[in-house]
Amino acid sequence: MSSFIIFSIDVFASLFIVVFGCLVLLVIYFYISDVTQAKQAIRRNYPVIGRFRYFFERQGEFFRQYFFAMDREEMPFNRADRSWVYRAAKNVDRTTAFGSTQSLETTGTVMFMNCAFPTLDEDALDPSAVTLGPYCPQPYVTKSLFNVSGMSFGALSKPAVRALSKGAKLAGCWMNTGEGGLSPYHLEGGADLVFQIGTAKYGVRDEHGNLSTEKLKAIAAHEQVKMFELKMSQGAKPGKGGMLPGKKVTAEIAAIRGIPEGHDSISPNGHIEIKAPADILDMVEKVRDTTGKPTGFKAVIGAYAWLETLFAEINRRGIESAPDFITIDSADGGTGAAPQPLMDSVGLPLRESLPLVVNMLEKHGLRERVKVIASGKLIVPSRVAWALALGADFVVSARGHMFALGCIQALQCNKDTCPTGITTHNERLQRGLDVEDKAQRVANYNKYIHYGAGLIAHSCGVFSARELSREHVRVVQENGLSEPLDKMYEHYQ
Ligand SMILES: Cc1cc2nc3c(=O)[nH]c(=O)nc-3n(C[C@H](O)[C@H](O)[C@H](O)COP(=O)(O)O)c2cc1C
Repeated sequence: MSSFIIFSIDVFASLFIVVFGCLVLLVIYFYISDVTQAKQAIRRNYPVIGRFRYFFERQGEFFRQYFFAMDREEMPFNRADRSWVYRAAKNVDRTTAFGSTQSLETTGTVMFMNCAFPTLDEDALDPSAVTLGPYCPQPYVTKSLFNVSGMSFGALSKPAVRALSKGAKLAGCWMNTGEGGLSPYHLEGGADLVFQIGTAKYGVRDEHGNLSTEKLKAIAAHEQVKMFELKMSQGAKPGKGGMLPGKKVTAEIAAIRGIPEGHDSISPNGHIEIKAPADILDMVEKVRDTTGKPTGFKAVIGAYAWLETLFAEINRRGIESAPDFITIDSADGGTGAAPQPLMDSVGLPLRESLPLVVNMLEKHGLRERVKVIASGKLIVPSRVAWALALGADFVVSARGHMFALGCIQALQCNKDTCPTGITTHNERLQRGLDVEDKAQRVANYNKYIHYGAGLIAHSCGVFSARELSREHVRVVQENGLSEPLDKMYEHYQ
């Protein structure tokens, strides 16, 4: 027995010496490689220990949100908003206690004006149905205020697209395909779909990369595809086409898009057919005539004189020629991958672009004809209600639905390493995303957005969220006092 103990101690001691020796060798190796390399000054000046800087910098991304960031502090989405989405999606208690962590003094804070005589539950109404494309052979009628914004199969994983399509069906809302074409996974859930035509025309391009009317007809033949959206630009990268890194271009995605596998998928900055406002109308007409379905466009607004020209041209050609909707994306919109200079500094945020476009439509007598869809960080009921009050007919959200799928804001959509399986094609990581469970979460989230926007509307004394208007909102100014929104953005008389 004692010889066995002595033998074990010997083995342990030898192992320890081997491990310790390896560690010393590793440190010597790091030391030599650090002092001899010329790329990183910190490592050269502080060999071995300098490496921790890079390690902690990377880990900071993960730990800040748990330990250091306050509830309303984090970007792009703070913990308070994300946590509301998680709780709504999981269908657990969404009430909070003690008092709000939202400051009512910060400039820009939005406050809804409650009515002395709130709407009683028995008088409350569901949002009314809205018709898009009244002059189309196949108009689209929907009651859903809140819908899934464009995210391509490619940026998103297969199970994420499947869960969204099933969730959208359960919720009774539409799902936009994003610019990556139509996949079987979009169709699988049975939800209404908006097919997006990006600048590379993925899914509807001919061998030269031009719009193929044959392929367009084939897409329109799917009864589920209710509308078409020309993507002019998106908030996270105005003036830059879609970008899908080569490591995310799998064989299946390449086949759906009609591009080579494993190569970066970079869309042109704009549509080659569209160089002026009138070209938008030509293209809208072409898509609408080919498909028979409502057609509009998506853009982030920057310079806006072209909209005056566009709206005047619509009135010159006749009201039927108008796009059936305009999706206005905020400059702070999200993306799978974008250059930081564009993401940080180009385009107007929704609080300016939405009332601007709505007022211009009013001025040209087109407000009823052209429906307005708003997107950009509208992930909680108060933000959705705010957009409706400013003049939107519908709201769409990409990242809100990603949170409903379980996104933890790891900011790795461009790296194929998404830890929740939402934006990666790594099958091991995708295993964590249970399609049926997440579909139900998407539906729950949608339900509570409608419910929450309704609560605000009823508090303001109107019957449904669709009836919210600028008169119901005040915004805190620099002096700490609020101004009515209808004075800040006066409707066109
Ligand atoms: C992962 C991801 C992929 C996206 N892909 C597209 C796309 O293919 N086409 C598009 O027009 N917008 C795309 N977007 C932008 C969204 O549709 C949306 O306009 C933007 O994120 C603002 O909405 P949000 O704040 O609710 O996310 C994408 C966004 C994300 C996060």
